[in-house]
Amino acid sequence: MKIDGTPYRSVWVDADGWSVRILDQTRLPWQLDILRLTEAAQVAEAIRSMQVRGAPLIGAVAAYGVALALRADASTEALERAIALLGATRPTAINLGWALGRMRARLHNLPPAERVAAAYAEALAIADDDAETCRRIGAHGLPLLQEIQARKPAERVNVLTHCNAGWLATVDYGTALSPIYQAHDAGIPVHVWVDETRPRNQGAALTAFELGKHGVPHTVIADNAGGHLMQHGEVDLCIVGTDRVTRRGDVANKIGTYLKALAARDNGVPFWVALPHSTIDWQVGDGVAEIPIEARGAAEVTDLTGRTADGRIETVRVAAEGSPAANPAFDVTPARLVTGLITERGRCEASEAGLRGLYADAP
Ligand code: MRU
Repeated sequence: MKIDGTPYRSVWVDADGWSVRILDQTRLPWQLDILRLTEAAQVAEAIRSMQVRGAPLIGAVAAYGVALALRADASTEALERAIALLGATRPTAINLGWALGRMRARLHNLPPAERVAAAYAEALAIADDDAETCRRIGAHGLPLLQEIQARKPAERVNVLTHCNAGWLATVDYGTALSPIYQAHDAGIPVHVWVDETRPRNQGAALTAFELGKHGVPHTVIADNAGGHLMQHGEVDLCIVGTDRVTRRGDVANKIGTYLKALAARDNGVPFWVALPHSTIDWQVGDGVAEIPIEARGAAEVTDLTGRTADGRIETVRVAAEGSPAANPAFDVTPARLVTGLITERGRCEASEAGLRGLYADAP
């Protein structure tokens, strides 16, 4: 996708042919900082600190982290050390383990001398696969918006989304935002309600930034506003991304997603979840009981970061001094609250039968 006319992916290999470039998402939307990563430890820190975030993107960046580690030491021990280091950075998004598993499967049986070139090629294949997968998710989600427009041709199509599941969260295009971009590009008058997504504000900062750069009309709302808007007929459709979908169709996503799904159900608003194949965890059935939920630092809740009028990026405390805070970063929306899943292979019911219908070849 583009920022001010320049095309970007959210991760790429530098012109030197080996170091890895990312956009620092802790500085967006205020500053466009491009970071250069040269070691696996730096990649792990970029994922942990959320300079890169979003389930598909952290998988792709971790794959490049393996390539950087092997460049320093191509032994089997170094490969396993890198996979352990990168795999321990964030627990909820299954894409991380998926990408590292794919790297291990490709590299483990190769002679060390062949591993570095193969690791870069495999990381690029993961990135390319994610971009193409997300483009297809957009194509399969587009009819949902076209159907709404056909029902009310004179009005805008209002979509509500939570967190950031756009191109910044993937390698390109996004998952939840991909159908929205395709609808906008096809001339559908789409308008997006952007949940601010406290505590880290991925909606207000990143989703609003992306949509704005692409010219998609949108409005940032407080997280608590969605139910009210749904009660008043202001939301036609919810589309969110996900960090892990169980084989039964339960959906882990950014904290607050579950409450949006409850409000959508109460108001008869369709609630769709967009995901690539790499987000499905076939080993897990019951998402509420089994998906590990990341607990992040209390400061993300007690403090807020923003840009001052004179251009400085500052963090201030908004909670009462001395009050403790809890910060579960994800929640699980049970499959029964999900209208359906949008994948690169088509749309399906959020159920084992639905997912198996599209992925009969999955392990
Ligand atoms: O903590 P984050 O910002 O990594 O959480 C991201 C989300 O919850 C996204 O909705 C999810 O990863 C899907 S991204 C296509």
